[in-house]
Amino acid sequence: MTKINQPVTLKNGITLRNPLMMAPMTTQMSFFNGVITQDEIAYYKNRSQAIGAVITGAANVQAVGQGWAGELGVYDDKFIPNLTKLATAIKAGGAKAILQIFHGGRMSPKNILNGAEPVSASAVAAERPGAPTPRALTGEEVLQVIADFKAATKRAMTAGFDGVEIHGTNTYLIQQFFSPHSNRREDEWGGSLVKRFHFIDVLVDEILAAGKEKSTDFIVGYRFSPEEYETPGIRMEDTLYLVDQLAEKNLDYLHVSLNEYQRVSVQKEFQEKSIVDYLQEKIAGRVPLVAVGGIEEAADVEALLNHADLAAVGQALIIDPDWGEKVLNQQPVHRVSNLDSASRTLRGTSLWDFVTTIRLDN
Ligand SMILES: Cc1cc2nc3c(=O)[nH]c(=O)nc-3n(C[C@H](O)[C@H](O)[C@H](O)COP(=O)(O)O)c2cc1C
Repeated sequence: MTKINQPVTLKNGITLRNPLMMAPMTTQMSFFNGVITQDEIAYYKNRSQAIGAVITGAANVQAVGQGWAGELGVYDDKFIPNLTKLATAIKAGGAKAILQIFHGGRMSPKNILNGAEPVSASAVAAERPGAPTPRALTGEEVLQVIADFKAATKRAMTAGFDGVEIHGTNTYLIQQFFSPHSNRREDEWGGSLVKRFHFIDVLVDEILAAGKEKSTDFIVGYRFSPEEYETPGIRMEDTLYLVDQLAEKNLDYLHVSLNEYQRVSVQKEFQEKSIVDYLQEKIAGRVPLVAVGGIEEAADVEALLNHADLAAVGQALIIDPDWGEKVLNQQPVHRVSNLDSASRTLRGTSLWDFVTTIRLDN
């Protein structure tokens, strides 16, 4: 079991100074064209002084993959100069810098795409009010998406990032290929569970080929969501197959996206232990697992490390940039649960909405 103050070694042999990672969290602070701002760079720098690694908020690999306003872009070489400043700022504090690479797929709103049609595995709208029906990618376009993830990985390397995290979670494009809800294709990219995994299989191999081309030191992680509530949707059986396949690859870590790291599956057949424990059983030590969700103080990290190898921390680091240093030194911290609950649960809410709702009188 890892201890909060102990270094952790990833599959490629790279060591993080401790098991704390900043969870990927978009700040919506980039310019309208995806170029990072000085404020955003300062925001990351402040939070990277003590923790092991910082995973940036999602950066879109295609213009048509942009999910929201103020999102980071990595779909063109023009982003490299400012991404270099970001990687340098994160690394200056001693943390590893990991860029999260992303495509919104059917979750990209038309107004954000300047009227362009969102794309996905199939022409099926998400089950959300007002969700647009996307256009199904052609076979050629599927290959282009993979090529663009690969190009984004190379840009991250050029900018000096220590690695990339593949954003396969939270209902966005990569998850859309794996989900039987959004993937109804009948070609090589859809159909059976094995064929729904095909996109991820090829994508991960291509990203690994790009990332590890010059050195195996470059970190490549994969983030996924374990369950969907739609029918049909991703179930635990699918996820256990996914992690079993991914654990065989040269990925440096797997990262399960949860709002509470102790969460138990909604499926009756998988309620004997937490989702994280089922995942660990399947992974069986082949690759480190990062868990996330609801970490507020040192005791939470220690409890999480009984079940997973690394702890990703989100909102606690938004409200207190020095959170990492404080928990490592066993100092008191402000609790996320003292935030106004409505602000806390709003995904994509601007940073300032979080900051201005902190109650310091706990
Ligand atoms: C403001 C905000 C932005 C987020 N943006 C992303 C993102 O860009 N990519 C991602 O994979 N998850 C994103 N998440 C989810 C977080 O990575 C994390 O899983 C979640 O906040 C639970 O962890 P916590 O309880 O420590 O905050 C975001 C969460 C918040 C609160």
